[in-house]
Amino acid sequence: MRHPTRYRAGVRVGVLTGGGDCPGLNAAIRAIVRKGIDHYGHAIVGFRDGWRGPLENLHEELTIESTRGILPRGGTILGTSRTNPFKRENGPERIRETMETLHLDGLIAIGGEDTLGVAARLYEGHGLSVLGVPKTIDNDLAATDVTFGFDTALHLATEAIDRLHTTAESHHRVMVVEVMGRHAGWIALHSGLAGGADVILIPERPFEIDDVCGLIRRRHSRGRVFSIVVVAEGAVPEEGTMAMTDREEDEFGHVRLGGIGQRLEREIEQRTGFETRAVVLGHTQRGGTPTAFDRVLATRLGVAAIDAAHDERWGTMPALRGTRITLVPLSEAVEQLRTVPPEDYVVASPFFG
Ligand code: F6P
Repeated sequence: MRHPTRYRAGVRVGVLTGGGDCPGLNAAIRAIVRKGIDHYGHAIVGFRDGWRGPLENLHEELTIESTRGILPRGGTILGTSRTNPFKRENGPERIRETMETLHLDGLIAIGGEDTLGVAARLYEGHGLSVLGVPKTIDNDLAATDVTFGFDTALHLATEAIDRLHTTAESHHRVMVVEVMGRHAGWIALHSGLAGGADVILIPERPFEIDDVCGLIRRRHSRGRVFSIVVVAEGAVPEEGTMAMTDREEDEFGHVRLGGIGQRLEREIEQRTGFETRAVVLGHTQRGGTPTAFDRVLATRLGVAAIDAAHDERWGTMPALRGTRITLVPLSEAVEQLRTVPPEDYVVASPFFG
């Protein structure tokens, strides 16, 4: 049922997706457009490529027609980038100008830690009407229990581990599976648990390579002929126990991770004598169609975001708390990373070695 005339006329809301893409972004965009236009009678303007869109006024009007059929599609129809407006000359002022030129009442930024960090600064430091929607496969945002994208990445990683079991067993090999997650071990821990990994290494708990090899040796001494090691890309050895290389940084000062799988492959093979192969799942974890869970979560957050925009609740973010969606201050979401608590890791350790 349509009720557009019941509401404030002529409200215009911008929307952008920033940072790494993830499955569920299109479901969130669709929800914002559908409820925004059909229910409230608002106009929705989509910005291209994250914060680059409002910086350079790259936009398109989003309609029910143009967002039809996107619910099951991975990626983002708006495009994305890791552009940081605070690293560009007059960035916040240029965003304000674009919003004024397009007569926007506010802007919804769908993103992770970096994109939402910019949104919080634009709201608090520059008085811009911005609100956020949490997404990331890393699942590392505070203030929400789960981010959409995580469940799809987790399924992909679990399926990969299942597949690697059979080839590892046939060849009597150790398989090292490197998964994403930046400085949080959610994907590694959960896919490792779901896939029955023999060792799981996460950034929250620096590892000793001797311990890793000890677990593999123990397992093999008990008659098993293969092992699966799941390692988060951000996992680090205890200081001085294994050499690591320097990394380049992006506009938000994040180092580009990846490569720990290959390092472990060499170390494990040399130290144990067991033939070892590394598999880097990489961006396959971000691609493809979202799971039903991610579609539903993204849809609920999208609806809550356009409701919040309608109510002019700028500076907030809808979050999943337990089973309910609730509005929280944006600042809360970016205060700190939500990493794996030690008690969660303890659950996995009886299955090691
Ligand atoms: O934040 C999502 C994420 O996929 C991380 O897990 C990973 O470290 C990073 O993005 C990779 O970024 P890029 O796509 O820029 O290589």
